[in-house]
Amino acid sequence: MKILSIITQKGGAGKTTIATALAVAAEKDGLNTAILDLDDQATSCFWGDIRQGLNHAPALAVKDVKAIRLPHVLEALKSAGCDLVIL
Ligand SMILES: Nc1ncnc2c1ncn2[C@@H]1O[C@H](COP(=O)(O)OP(=O)(O)OP(=O)(O)O)[C@@H](O)[C@H]1O
Ligand SMILES: [Mg+2]
Repeated sequence: MKILSIITQKGGAGKTTIATALAVAAEKDGLNTAILDLDDQATSCFWGDIRQGLNHAPALAVKDVKAIRLPHVLEALKSAGCDLVIL
């Protein structure tokens, strides 16, 4: 399982845009992909909620997670056969 972290300070540098676009591209390439959203603003999660309601959208896991829980959640995703996690 690969882990890709997208990190800058808050303020609209494009983290959420890149994370969600890369996740969709990875899923289309056949990778079992998850987004873990560590931002309290949870914009990726809201995006995931809207996307889930679209008929054509394939399943893509988007979870909000607190940093202290990250090791446990990553282990769980690895065990579940996840190929790519985007933080
Ligand atoms: N490559 C780009 N070109 C033009 N606009 C972009 C690009 N990437 C992102 N944006 C726009 O910039 C704004 C901020 O992007 P985004 O929400 O992805 O940033 P962010 O780093 O997640 O922000 P925050 O720090 O608030 O979480 C959005 O309106 C988005 O559509
Ligand atoms: Mg963001």
